[in-house]
Amino acid sequence: MNRIVRIAVLVSGGGTNLQALIDAEKSGIISSGKIVCVISSKPGAYALTRAENAGIDAYTVSKKECKDQAEFEDKIERIIRKNGAELIILAGFMSILSENFTKKHEKRIINVHPALIPSFCGAGFYGLHVHEAALAYGVKVSGATVHFVNEVPDGGQIIMQKAVRVHEGDTPEKLQKRIMKQAEWKILPASAELVCKKILTGEV
Ligand code: GRF
Repeated sequence: MNRIVRIAVLVSGGGTNLQALIDAEKSGIISSGKIVCVISSKPGAYALTRAENAGIDAYTVSKKECKDQAEFEDKIERIIRKNGAELIILAGFMSILSENFTKKHEKRIINVHPALIPSFCGAGFYGLHVHEAALAYGVKVSGATVHFVNEVPDGGQIIMQKAVRVHEGDTPEKLQKRIMKQAEWKILPASAELVCKKILTGEV
């Protein structure tokens, strides 16, 4: 079997999760899929440079330049179609997709969230806010979750989770970094491979 799943990665920022996916493809951790395009919602995001450095087509769809969510999603949809992408990976993509979009791609969009869902997730829980909330609550363990994306923010079926210890004296920044290193950069590529395999075998 040599069919491969074409992957679009949606980003908004630094793109360390994108880098983990690129590296995993190079090292063979991802062998059932191939990143064919990267789409950033933010012009100039460093993730775009990472894509270009890896020879991957990179696009910007600036949300600010779209008149509404429908136009924003329509532009993304066109790029995805043009590149024949079957799986969409949200890797630090800072925009919530509408039900109209998620319904068209059921079980074909995955996201990485930097906490153990159902804790510290949903609208408003993004970036450092997630880690601030976890530390304020006093949890001793946090982590990351990869899940399918549906119309409920962070509400789709869980694919993988990895727990990470909270240390005494942690700041949100320290916890964020540890969770990325120990969990996100590992379970996102592993989940991508798992979902690609399932797409190829028709399990999802
Ligand atoms: C990550 O913590 C991810 O879980 C969250 O946003 C951050 C993105 O980081 N959704 P990067 O752009 O992949 O470096």
